[in-house]
Amino acid sequence: MTVRLRALERDDLPFVHLLSNDSSVMTYWFDEPFESLAELTDIYDRHIHDNRERRFVIELDDENRTSAGIVELVEIEPVHLTAEFQIIVAPWHQGRGHASTATDLALRYAFATLNLHKVYLIVDIENAGAIHVYEKNGFVVEGTLREEFFAAGRYRDALRMAILQRDYLNTSS
Ligand SMILES: CC(C)(COP(=O)(O)OP(=O)(O)OC[C@H]1O[C@@H](n2cnc3c(N)ncnc32)[C@H](O)[C@@H]1OP(=O)(O)O)[C@@H](O)C(=O)NCCC(=O)NCCS
Repeated sequence: MTVRLRALERDDLPFVHLLSNDSSVMTYWFDEPFESLAELTDIYDRHIHDNRERRFVIELDDENRTSAGIVELVEIEPVHLTAEFQIIVAPWHQGRGHASTATDLALRYAFATLNLHKVYLIVDIENAGAIHVYEKNGFVVEGTLREEFFAAGRYRDALRMAILQRDYLNTSS
């Protein structure tokens, strides 16, 4: 199944609300599974013109244009040309390669459209599936953040991973 990225719309917020209240997802985002639709809508409205972020829906190329997840470039930095990468594939759409495709599409957008220099991410050291996806898409480990986050009852070590524009553009077609 082909996937594409499109801008997150206000109509997508009930879908984001489902994801952001799912503890299996939010543990790996180092965040509480607790967010009201009203709060999400308020955040969305306050950030509509925020040029430091690009929030995308991962959309399947089926007849319903099903939403499979979200992928984001946030903290876009205009001097250093860096951004943080974040992704969620809905639990019921996982294991079908969507994260890998969406990661590549988001990196293409970051490097070929926004002309960013570097994209980085922070991932739980135990999130083996995500780390596999990131390594497959060219991210390399830059360091370990010891006991950086408290989630699901304990502190967790995290990896910072990153990819440079020249490395992405030299290896992608
Ligand atoms: C991490 C996440 C985005 C992956 O989404 P997905 O669509 O299931 O990922 P894909 O199907 O594209 O790829 C999964 C890959 O990981 C591999 N994998 C899965 N579990 C693994 C494990 N325990 N160890 C190593 N590799 C693993 C799969 O074999 C697959 O690799 P392949 O494509 O080479 O066969 C999804 O699980 C998710 O949203 N999790 C919750 C939120 C989260 O963790 N976000 C990332 C925070 S940094």
